[in-house]
Amino acid sequence: MFILNKNLAVWFSSIMIIFIYLMNLITTTLAQPEFNSWDCVEAANYTVNSTYQRNLDTTLDALPTTNRGLGFYKLSIGQGNDTVNSVALCRGDINPDVCDRCLNDSIVKLRQLCPNEKEAVGYYDYCMVKYSNQVILRRMDIRFYVYLADTQNATDIDQFNSDLGQLMRNLRGDAAAGGEQQKFASGNTTGPNFSTIYGLVQCTPDLSEKQCSDCLEDIISRIGSWFNGKVGGRILLPMCNFRYDTY
Ligand SMILES: *[C@@H]1O[C@H](CO)[C@@H](O)[C@H](O)[C@H]1NC(C)=O
Ligand SMILES: *[C@@H]1O[C@H](CO)[C@@H](O)[C@H](O)[C@H]1NC(C)=O
Ligand SMILES: *[C@@H]1O[C@H](CO)[C@@H](O)[C@H](O)[C@H]1NC(C)=O
Ligand SMILES: *[C@@H]1O[C@H](CO)[C@@H](O)[C@H](O)[C@H]1NC(C)=O
Ligand SMILES: *[C@@H]1O[C@H](CO)[C@@H](O)[C@H](O)[C@H]1NC(C)=O
Ligand SMILES: *[C@@H]1O[C@H](CO)[C@@H](O)[C@H](O)[C@H]1NC(C)=O
Ligand SMILES: *[C@@H]1O[C@H](CO)[C@@H](O)[C@H](O)[C@H]1NC(C)=O
Repeated sequence: MFILNKNLAVWFSSIMIIFIYLMNLITTTLAQPEFNSWDCVEAANYTVNSTYQRNLDTTLDALPTTNRGLGFYKLSIGQGNDTVNSVALCRGDINPDVCDRCLNDSIVKLRQLCPNEKEAVGYYDYCMVKYSNQVILRRMDIRFYVYLADTQNATDIDQFNSDLGQLMRNLRGDAAAGGEQQKFASGNTTGPNFSTIYGLVQCTPDLSEKQCSDCLEDIISRIGSWFNGKVGGRILLPMCNFRYDTY
């Protein structure tokens, strides 16, 4: 059961961070999966029956049919200010059926949660969906971090941070070199007290090798200060994300 908290939104010099705490990592089968996190960007709203809404409907209906690689979807429809841009990315190691279902679910869910916002983003375990009236892809300037942390501490925090950092940087190189279909890597390493640390990292495959590497380095460099020895964590951006756990 996930217990979520989306109350703390803090601005750090143009960096927005949403703190969401994974209180309990015991996996349960949820009849209706819930987003791990989502954001309805309230800067711009559309009106009922507007051109923007029609474009949004059309875009999101068709988005799941636009797989341009291994679980990477993008579609833009409309002109000028009524353009709707949409992107979706499935976790690199899930099968296409699960990916399709995740996309379908998240599109329905996001429209319900954000009924009139022009821009919204939602993250499930297996996929991310975002739509916007702004350009989404290759926008390295957008830094809207979603951060999820386990509550448990590692036995030796310094050692854990060091082992984890090394694992994630190795994975970063593999993912960035992944090519235009998929930029994903997963692996494990031995942490303190013979524990195993599992990690996965991913970029949208439209990023260049360097953009992917830079995006991942930016979030990996936050591990020490944001997680400081917590045994599980994720940082999610539309362009790149990572996750690590000890199980
Ligand atoms: C958009 O709608 C939300 C509520 O649905 C509201 O809180 C927000 O202020 C609106 N934004 C603008 C720019 O009107
Ligand atoms: C939107 O369009 C539908 C179908 O054309 C219509 O039934 C509805 O009244 C319209 N709503 C508004 C707020 O204009
Ligand atoms: C598009 O939006 C911008 C600012 O949001 C506005 O200045 C411009 O006039 C709009 N253009 C059209 C064609 O509506
Ligand atoms: C997703 O939705 C589309 C259209 O509604 C449907 O054809 C397709 O079977 C759905 N896929 C899954 C895996 O549920
Ligand atoms: C983890 O460590 C922090 C301080 O470093 C402490 O406040 C917190 O209670 C610890 N969490 C658990 C679950 O022991
Ligand atoms: C090391 O792991 C074992 C078994 O997983 C556990 O019982 C023990 O308490 C751990 N040691 C430390 C220092 O936490
Ligand atoms: C850990 O990674 C190695 C490759 O580096 C792999 O052979 C092994 O199966 C992985 N272990 C687990 C438990 O996944």
